Amino acid sequence: MKPDIKTRADIEQLIIKFYEQVKTDEVIGYIFTKVVKMDWPHHIPVIINFWESILLDNPVYTQNAMEVHYTLNKKEPLLPEHFKRWVQLFTCTVDDLFEGKTAALAKTRAKSIASVMQLKMNNNNSHSIM
Ligand code: HEM
Repeated sequence: MKPDIKTRADIEQLIIKFYEQVKTDEVIGYIFTKVVKMDWPHHIPVIINFWESILLDNPVYTQNAMEVHYTLNKKEPLLPEHFKRWVQLFTCTVDDLFEGKTAALAKTRAKSIASVMQLKMNNNNSHSIM
């Protein structure tokens, strides 16, 4: 039996492993390494804050996550296959490390945020070609 996600250190472990997969992924890796030259030491704690707010009910993330992706979407359209892959990698990473109620919540929230994001980005893409 694997442990559940219980602390910020657990989230850190999850996020570091997730981005290890993302960076070398053939479908979405280039977005993080070529389109955006990620400042990882800055980005990782921000993402951990984001997930701590959602999973541990501790509101340490105060930015607007959607906004960042609108800007990104103008540089490089974020397509359904990108979101599909992002969710796959996130889900697999959670399953590799954790199980339980909070691990399940992480997966459902990731999926639902990705669906909303995909819808918003796609609306934006179709407006921009009209
Ligand atoms: C196609 C899928 C996705 C791609 C390619 C992607 C890519 C990126 C990139 C490149 C950044 C950094 C942008 C920058 O600093 O200039 C970023 C930031 C972020 N992403 Fe995503 N993302 C995706 C989906 C998601 C989803 C589904 C979530 C949430 C469940 C998410 C949460 C975040 C958060 C919280 C940030 C930090 C925002 C901030 O700086 O306040 N991303 N993403």
